[in-house]
Amino acid sequence: MSPSLPHPLLSHTERFARLTERLAEWQDLWRPLPFQHRRPPWGEAWPGLETALLRLSDASAARLQDTPFRESPLADWLPVAELARLVDLPELAGDACELPVAWAAHVGGRKWSQIEAFLPRVGASPDERLVEWCAGKGHLSRALAQRLDAEVTALEWQATLCREGQRLADRQGATVHMAEQDVLAPGAGRWLSSDTRVAALHACGDLHGRLIELAAEHGSSVTLAPCCYQRTTDAHYRPLSRQGRELAAASGLILTREDLAMAVQETVTAPRHVRRRREQANAWRLGFDLLQREVRGIDAYLPVPSLAYGRLPDSFAEFCHWAAERKGLGLPAGIDWPAFESAGERRRVEVTRMELVRHLFRRPLEVWLVLDRTLRLEEAGFSVELGTFCERELTPRNLLLRACRPCAREA
Ligand SMILES: C[S@@+](CC[C@H](N)C(=O)[O-])C[C@H]1O[C@@H](n2cnc3c(N)ncnc32)[C@H](O)[C@@H]1O
Repeated sequence: MSPSLPHPLLSHTERFARLTERLAEWQDLWRPLPFQHRRPPWGEAWPGLETALLRLSDASAARLQDTPFRESPLADWLPVAELARLVDLPELAGDACELPVAWAAHVGGRKWSQIEAFLPRVGASPDERLVEWCAGKGHLSRALAQRLDAEVTALEWQATLCREGQRLADRQGATVHMAEQDVLAPGAGRWLSSDTRVAALHACGDLHGRLIELAAEHGSSVTLAPCCYQRTTDAHYRPLSRQGRELAAASGLILTREDLAMAVQETVTAPRHVRRRREQANAWRLGFDLLQREVRGIDAYLPVPSLAYGRLPDSFAEFCHWAAERKGLGLPAGIDWPAFESAGERRRVEVTRMELVRHLFRRPLEVWLVLDRTLRLEEAGFSVELGTFCERELTPRNLLLRACRPCAREA
C-alpha cells in the first residue's frame, strides 16, 4: 500500500487513481448482490470475513450500515481505513445564509433545506448569466434569482412544471424564465456560453452527463450535485474523462448499470414502520426464493417484480402465490408455509450482514463517479472544486462539484 496522505493533500487525479485500484481490486467482493445468492460467491475464499459478519449483533449491523468506516470489524480483511481517507472530502465553502421564510412557499421542507445549503455554494459571479438544469418547478431558480437579484433561466422539459414554476416565480416577483427544453435534444447547447453558470441540483445520470459535455464544449461554469448515475442508456459505464477510460481499462474496472445503482443505494433513514415493512417484504422475497428453487429444481435466483409501497399482500402464502403467478410458476399443494417464512427471515438477517461489504464500497464508488466528472472538466481546462454541500442526513447525495470555466479566474 502506498503511504497515506491526509485528504486535503490528495489531488483529484491521485484520489481517482487510488479509488480505481481499490474498486477494481475488490470488485469480486462488492459486486455480487447477497440477495441473489444462498451464499456470497466470495464466501468460500473469505470464510473468516463471512463468519465475522454472521456473528454481528443486530445493533452492530445497523450501526455499520449507518457508519461503515467507523470501528469496523471488517478492517481485519478489507481496506477500511484507506477507503475512509479516500472518501473524506471537505465541506465546500460558501457564505451561510438564512433565506426569508416566504421564499420557501410551495417547496417541501427537506428540498428547501437542500436549497438553503446548495445556494450559498453556487459560486456565481455578477457577470455570469444563470441557468438551472432540469429545474422541475424552478424552486432553486426562484431562490437564486431573489438572493442574487439576478435573472435565471430554468430549463425543464415538462410543460406543466414550467407553467406552474412560472406562476410561482411571478407570484414571488422572482426574475425566473421557465423554458420548456429537453436537455438531451440537439439544440440544448444554445442556452450555454462562456459567460453562463449552470446550476443543477440532483440532476440524474445522462441529464448531468449532457450538462458536463455541453459545459466543456461552450466553456460554461457549472455547479452540480449529481444523482442517480444508473439512469443512463448505456448498459456499461463509459467514463467521461480520459483518465477514467485509461485507468478503468488498465485495471479491468467495468461497471454495469446495476453497479452504478449501488452508488446511490444509501437512503435517508426511513421511519420505523416503513423500515419494518421493508424488512418483512425482503424476508418474504427471500422465503419465496428458497421455495421457487425447490419447486423448479433449479438452484438459481429468479427476479420477482417490485411492489408499490402498501401493496404487500397480508400473508406470506398470498405473497408467494402472487409472485409465482407473475413468474408463471405452478405451486404444489402441501407447502409448509411457516417453515419457508422463517427460513426467509433467517436469510434476511444473513443478507443484511453480507450487504455490509457492499456498503463499504458504496461511497467510494460514488466519489469515483463524481471524480470522473471532475476530471472530465479539468481535462477541458476547468478549475474544479469538489466537496460536500450538506450533511448526509439532509440528503445522502451531498457531493457538489463547482467548476469554473477555463481562464475565468484570470479574466
Ligand atoms: C430529480 S428532478 C430534479 C428537480 C430539481 N432540480 C430538484 O432538485 O428538485 C429531475 C427533473 O428533471 C426533469 N427532466 C427529466 N428529463 C429531462 C430532460 N430530458 N430535459 C429536461 N428536463 C428533464 C424532470 O421533469 C424533473 O423535473
